[in-house]
Amino acid sequence: MSTHQELIDRDRKVTFHASTHLRDFAHGDVPGRVITGGKGINIVDKDGREMIDGFAGLYCVNIGYGRTEVAEAIYRQALELSYYHTYVGHSNEPLIELSEKILKLAGMGMSKVYYGMSGSDANETQLKIVRYYNNVLGRPQKKKVISRSRGYHGSGIASGSLTGLPTFHNHFDLPIETIRHTEAPYYYRRGDAEAGMSEREFARHCATKLEEMILHEGPETVAAFIGEPVLGTGGIVPPPEGYWEEIQKVLAKYDVLLIADEVVTGFGRIGTDFGSHYYGMKPDLITVAKGLTSAYQPLSGVIVGDKVWRVLEQGTGEFGPIGHGWTYSGHPLGAAAGLANLAIIEREGLAQNAAETGAYLQQQMHKTFADHPLVGNVRGIGLLAALEFSPDKANREHFAPSLKVGARVSNAALEENLIARAMPHGDILGFAPPLVVNRGEIDEIVARAKRAVDKVTDELTRSGDLK
Ligand SMILES: Cc1ncc(COP(=O)(O)O)c(C=O)c1O
Repeated sequence: MSTHQELIDRDRKVTFHASTHLRDFAHGDVPGRVITGGKGINIVDKDGREMIDGFAGLYCVNIGYGRTEVAEAIYRQALELSYYHTYVGHSNEPLIELSEKILKLAGMGMSKVYYGMSGSDANETQLKIVRYYNNVLGRPQKKKVISRSRGYHGSGIASGSLTGLPTFHNHFDLPIETIRHTEAPYYYRRGDAEAGMSEREFARHCATKLEEMILHEGPETVAAFIGEPVLGTGGIVPPPEGYWEEIQKVLAKYDVLLIADEVVTGFGRIGTDFGSHYYGMKPDLITVAKGLTSAYQPLSGVIVGDKVWRVLEQGTGEFGPIGHGWTYSGHPLGAAAGLANLAIIEREGLAQNAAETGAYLQQQMHKTFADHPLVGNVRGIGLLAALEFSPDKANREHFAPSLKVGARVSNAALEENLIARAMPHGDILGFAPPLVVNRGEIDEIVARAKRAVDKVTDELTRSGDLK
């Protein structure tokens, strides 16, 4: 049997890893790790080292690791029907049941579910739907989609364009022409001109910025607005009070569709089945993935509301069958995993746990870090939380990027056997444990995080980078 090091060495030679410094990894200058198992909120590597996964993979393993019930559902489905496509009206039983379940959970006038394998491909589908919709309505110029700076919607050509983070654009010639980015609803990082604003005022300011952009582009050219209920990969930022209410007024005024990207917030993460429920959003289209199967199988969904669905039907009445489909749309193994996963979420009340244990997480994070010399901002909702580091709290200053403060705290956490994610933009440490987490485990996560933050604080104080 190969040792851990042998596996890593082989891996360096053959695997092109996501979001990795390719040269340094290939040349052995950044560490590798082979994960071999997991149970509850913990994962274990090939050396038998156990770590708390404080980020649930990539905020997706919501029911925790090692749930045999889901594995068995996938196995049973593979024995019965491992695959058949869903083109021209073909279906499979778990898929029908899953769609019924999703629509019931979502409510909000949702009508149909289209399936893919990832959040990125689901957002590609969203963009195609939006184009088709306006073509059917005889508005071929109404095609632009407005996203937000710091939004995250995937990393394909179109979904990566929706993403509002420079690393996903630079050197890929993105964003594509029809995508725009408006102000991020990021109260902590509001600009100097907005410094004195209350959250409500800042929410109105964001809505005004959006309106100005729509007017500048021409409302007849703006088709849709896409947003995560809570900014995720862009920094785990709950919106300022009143944000969605203000944004939706503008969208309604200019007949702009709302796409809620619920890839992270769908299925319980912030304490409600959908983030849209929490914030009173009325989306026309919803994107889901991650928590839909808790990543036991790759599966994503585009949930289409009545208003859009009627136009899609009208379009195929005029133009014939819709020219969109993936080989694996509605894959029965994904559907079986999704059903078993949603049954666990419901039976174990995991959305409720995200609300209650999540409130405890927020409380403990504030108690531990609000006055910490390295921490400028503590924020979160439900089982999503973030610490943002700053060398000067009062002025919300940034550390020099070369100090890599976020990554250093994340590495220090790893030394404590805690996985907390250094978010890709800014010195931000993210937490999103599986929704099965309990209070004792939250205490352990916060205690380990505290030791990690203290360690980097000492280093920065000694080097003179923190006064
Ligand atoms: C809100 C949101 N949308 C879309 C995506 C893209 O999903 P995937 O990585 O499955 O393509 C992500 C991934 O993190 C996400 O957080």
